Amino acid sequence: MKKPVKVVVTGAAGQIGYSLLFRIGAGDMLGADQPIDLVMLERNAESSMKAAKGVKMELDDCAFPLLNSVYSTPDLTEAFRDANIALLVGARPRTKDMNRSDLLNANAQIFIQQGRAINEVADRNVKVLVVGNPANTNAYIARKCAPDINPKNFTAMMRLDHNRSLTQLAQKTDCRVTDIEKFCVWGNHGNTMFPDVTNTLICGKQADTLFDQQWYLDYFVPTVATRGSAIIEARGHSSAASAANAAIDHIRDWCLGSGDKWQTMAVPSNGEYGIPEGLCFGMPVTCNNGDYEVVKSLELTEFQKEFIKKNVEALETERKVVDEIIANS
Ligand code: NAD
Ligand code: LMR
Repeated sequence: MKKPVKVVVTGAAGQIGYSLLFRIGAGDMLGADQPIDLVMLERNAESSMKAAKGVKMELDDCAFPLLNSVYSTPDLTEAFRDANIALLVGARPRTKDMNRSDLLNANAQIFIQQGRAINEVADRNVKVLVVGNPANTNAYIARKCAPDINPKNFTAMMRLDHNRSLTQLAQKTDCRVTDIEKFCVWGNHGNTMFPDVTNTLICGKQADTLFDQQWYLDYFVPTVATRGSAIIEARGHSSAASAANAAIDHIRDWCLGSGDKWQTMAVPSNGEYGIPEGLCFGMPVTCNNGDYEVVKSLELTEFQKEFIKKNVEALETERKVVDEIIANS
């Protein structure tokens, strides 16, 4: 038997938590031979802890062989101590009339406190995925508040945007999602995100020969970028099962590898492609040996540079706001 991995899920009693925890327990994230010590971190409020207790009861009732232990706590130090993987989901979701960036002030404190706790007590190689919105900037906050952990380990989720795009492309070209290679979504998990088909092959053919530019610009890009709002409009709640699925995909590939297949992860920039250092930016990555690497040496066109610039501007604006919040906290 392998040694158990400690996985912390915040916001465990929320919508995404309810879809995520059971798949983690079933082995979808770390494989069918990896035992897990699962910690559910919830808000320190009676209703939240009570709901988390109910979810734990259901996890118990699944008798998942891989769940070595499960407990819920509102205590950051207890939750993150020696954590190997942290999925930071718990945060307020937006409602119909809001942009994701409107959540900045509501959610920043959560990621300041969690970043600090991770810095103090988590395993030094902890892998962090931020899901709570605005995800890229919340990951930036947590990383800034954890100066003793490798910055590379703080990532944000843009895999949902990647997966959404794959299905749109597959449906348009009458192919399967697995026929699509070298696709990524650059930038911010926000309205400016850039689903980029410049290098994409679908069934071995250059993607942009399979549809016209008008479909790409007027339908595909806005459909992917506004999919979150469309789901809120339709369901009355923000995406949950698809978000949990994307979180599973993100961590699974990071831990178990994606070979030479491109995936999208939002990761701290080291200045790649002119993206200012430190911004947590969606980029094409490959994952191997428990690590990810940004795809290098792409020649960017003016078209790509223009889209990337819009995302840099959006994230720089958020960075200014949160740098001040962090300094005053
Ligand atoms: P939800 O309201 O159903 O659940 C959030 C949970 O977090 C609640 O149980 C709440 O009690 C808990 N929580 C709040 N503050 C906490 C804290 N300080 N510590 C621990 N737990 C805390 O929301 P949801 O639908 O599960 O969404 C969670 C977040 O994920 C939202 O910000 C949402 O916008 C975001 N989201 C991101 C993506 C993405 O692609 N990045 C996709 C979907 C949703
Ligand atoms: C999504 O993309 O579905 C999430 O970020 C939720 C939202 O607010 O759009």
